[in-house]
Amino acid sequence: MIVLGVLVSGSGTNLGAILDAIERGRLAARVAVVVSNKAGAGALERAARARVPSVVIDHKAHASREAFDQALVDTLRAHGVEWVVLAGFMRIVTPVLLSAFPMRVVNIHPALLPSFPGVDAQKQALDHGVRVTGCTVHLVDSGTDTGPIVAQRAVPVLDGDDVESLKLRVLEAEHALLPEVLQWIAEGRVTVDLGEGRPRVKLGKPALE
Ligand code: GRF
Repeated sequence: MIVLGVLVSGSGTNLGAILDAIERGRLAARVAVVVSNKAGAGALERAARARVPSVVIDHKAHASREAFDQALVDTLRAHGVEWVVLAGFMRIVTPVLLSAFPMRVVNIHPALLPSFPGVDAQKQALDHGVRVTGCTVHLVDSGTDTGPIVAQRAVPVLDGDDVESLKLRVLEAEHALLPEVLQWIAEGRVTVDLGEGRPRVKLGKPALE
């Protein structure tokens, strides 16, 4: 059982997928706290429905990214969080958060990294005319969407897709992949090889039943 802190900014459908997986016994985790940088985020309602405590920390009320991240760290620590999940959290995080949870911050990105990092990933994919895009779960480092990749799921781009239709298809894949990867983490199967070159995730075999 791992203790999660989930950071959100928006509708919170990925948070919903995590909470659903926990409820159905498919993810051995507890969400100790949901933190949003936006007061009206739909994710806060989803947290309330699951009776998960939530906290709003407004980035605009902090003088710097670092001060904001320190407030995040204080809240996450106060709730006993072990792993941090960025689930539609639209802020760039700093070493203040990353050094408090080294290689324990997980992000879901709506493209097959290293293609289309940053914002508007689905629009970037459409603009490039790719036939396949998808989503990536990775550990967060100090770059934007550059950290070690844990898992990816491919999604076709169909003729006639617009940003909205593609977003929905990618989201469905996100909702399946993120809880699955978190369960691998709960099973202790995700480790990072810091050997030569860029750090890479090593996936351990599932325990025999
Ligand atoms: C997802 O597409 C996620 O990959 C991106 O932001 C979106 C968040 O959606 N980073 P939701 O708030 O989980 O519904």
